[in-house]
Amino acid sequence: MAYENILVETDGGVGVIRLNRPKALNALNDALIAEVSAALDAFEADAAIGCIVITGSEKAFAAGADIKQMSESQFADLYARDPFANLERVQRTRKPLIAAVAGYALGGGCELAMMCDFIIAAGNAKFGQPEVTLGVMPAWGGSQRLTRSVGKAKAMDLCLTGRMMDAAEAERCGLVARVVAADKLMEETLTAAKKIASMGQLSTIANKEAINAAFETPLNEGLRLERRLFYSLFATEDQKEGMAAFIAKRPPDFKHR
Ligand code: CAA
Repeated sequence: MAYENILVETDGGVGVIRLNRPKALNALNDALIAEVSAALDAFEADAAIGCIVITGSEKAFAAGADIKQMSESQFADLYARDPFANLERVQRTRKPLIAAVAGYALGGGCELAMMCDFIIAAGNAKFGQPEVTLGVMPAWGGSQRLTRSVGKAKAMDLCLTGRMMDAAEAERCGLVARVVAADKLMEETLTAAKKIASMGQLSTIANKEAINAAFETPLNEGLRLERRLFYSLFATEDQKEGMAAFIAKRPPDFKHR
């Protein structure tokens, strides 16, 4: 498929989606979101891909939903069409998904990053939910995922003032997994992504499913799910290979089965 708003490439078992609307700081319009969804479909269907990275430019991961596109919207149309359900494809992704964030990750951009499994941030990254400055509020999960990620106080501070926080603050409050030098963002992200892609895919998918369940289930149900998933991995060849390799003191050769 030919894309107009994203660039797509693969690198050693990693699928990379680069948001590419530089004149609009990668603002998320319907066309871009449809292309991200299509690229995720393709990478999920490709057995050679074990991890997916979403990134933007040095200046902007994404400066939010496209304000120009939505400025004339009316309630009845929004309610009937539910257009902001269009990014749900990202949260349904089963393979591990990393956001590599440089520059602005604002509004829907911050929310897209938070839909990924973890965020690696460049030192120049800036995160925020400035929707209140437009007379609205987050709509792609900012009020929910940000609060679960950084707690009520910081989420209220960011959403009610609309201020941005820098990468160091984002790491301190647990929004990002690590901060790296801006010129090393893709190198460090690809190193992590290739490491993930080298694992057995069934175990990375199961790890992800169990961790995400921690946000949706009571503790006891989450613990039972974790054990069920753990037991189920003993039906895979990768478990046999991983443990045999450890005992033989050799690297594992996972076949993703
Ligand atoms: N939508 C549409 N266009 C955008 C955009 C957005 N979210 N953000 C930036 N742009 C456009 C600008 O309009 C500008 O286009 P023109 O050259 O045609 O005027 C271009 O990108 C460059 O932007 P700036 O000139 O503003 O660049 P800057 O460096 O001076 O400022 C910025 C950068 C601080 C990120 C500023 O662009 C900004 O505040 N952007 C809007 C951020 C925002 O409010 N995001 C939330 C959107 S609402 C949302 O996301 C809802 C939701 O939860 C789903």
